[in-house]
Amino acid sequence: MNIGPYVLANNLFVAPMAGVTDRPFRMLCKKLGAGYAVSEMVTSRRDLWDTLKTSRRASHDGEPEPIAVQIAGTDAAMMADAAAYNIDRGAQIIDINMGCPAKKVCNKWAGSALMQDETLALQIIEAVVAACAPRNVPVTLKMRTGWCQAHKNALSIALSAERAGVQMVTVHGRTREQGYKGFAEYDTIAEVKARLKIPVVANGDITSPEKARDVLAYTGADAVMLGRAAQGRPWIFREVAHFMATGMHLAPPLVADVAHLLLDHLLDHYALYGEFTGVRSARKHIGWYVKTLPGGEAFRAQMNLLDNSEAQLLSVSAFFENLAGQMDRIPVAAVVDSVLDSAVGAINDKDQHVQKNLEASLA
Ligand SMILES: Cc1cc2nc3c(=O)[nH]c(=O)nc-3n(C[C@H](O)[C@H](O)[C@H](O)COP(=O)(O)O)c2cc1C
Repeated sequence: MNIGPYVLANNLFVAPMAGVTDRPFRMLCKKLGAGYAVSEMVTSRRDLWDTLKTSRRASHDGEPEPIAVQIAGTDAAMMADAAAYNIDRGAQIIDINMGCPAKKVCNKWAGSALMQDETLALQIIEAVVAACAPRNVPVTLKMRTGWCQAHKNALSIALSAERAGVQMVTVHGRTREQGYKGFAEYDTIAEVKARLKIPVVANGDITSPEKARDVLAYTGADAVMLGRAAQGRPWIFREVAHFMATGMHLAPPLVADVAHLLLDHLLDHYALYGEFTGVRSARKHIGWYVKTLPGGEAFRAQMNLLDNSEAQLLSVSAFFENLAGQMDRIPVAAVVDSVLDSAVGAINDKDQHVQKNLEASLA
């Protein structure tokens, strides 16, 4: 799988998630089997580029290539400037955000709201491609299936984007109106894939190796992108990769390995955010890691009261040491539960079938 000149390690991608897929998390996912990761979005607003938040988001130190940065905004010239600004800071691929449901930029709705105005969407795409092409930086586009159920225009925008020079399109199988409710559908993604020559990535509600395989087969997409299912479970990529290669499930990870992963993740996290912000923003990650583990909920409540990194690290170590005294591996039930309940919402019939198979194969 290629994006422009960049050859990716595989076709399993981490979805950009603002507040989640920062550099430490992206690097962890890549280490654990993800072939590609896009950074959280950087606003096109020049006045915000020097803020700590934007500069943290634009940090790529030590990250394996290619470095991809997502930009969001509503003005073509500003988006072109944002692309150039990020290229100057190391971006090798620029991703345009037309997929995020709730982001105001310059008091206008950006992200998936742009799908309502195809003329503006295309102006933005053309301006960003014009800014990137002379520097040989591929432009990619992430979008939803459309604005609402009655206005599913992913195909029309994808075709225009391809003509304008975009080199990969990712489609999340929900409309903007849906937010994260309901289910992702894959028919629109299959239609986009059938009509485009550039690579197409399928995204939405992919929570297990079986689901990844099924979505790839159903849509014919070139890659799958996983978001919420990787929260607190970055090793899902190697599980999917192993299943795709062998048809067998990897054993759940050792408790001791998860403890090391999380402790290293926390150290990287504090290094990026500093003590005060780092301890607070790490809580959600720790909560996701322990969510489905025995005693995880009680631990999370108590850990959330800690306000320094030393105490946070010690409490995480103690929790996992105690767990390792009870079991070697993360319990199968926890793996299945996290698949069932990885903040992905309700499960449709097809998923239930997949979950039953998964439970059976892990039993
Ligand atoms: C917390 C969170 C933040 C997100 N931020 C972004 C973002 O910055 N840009 C974007 O294109 N999509 C964003 N998304 C959407 C995801 O990239 C993805 O399309 C969506 O979660 C569906 O995939 P999933 O079902 O695998 O989670 C975000 C999703 C979540 C849950």
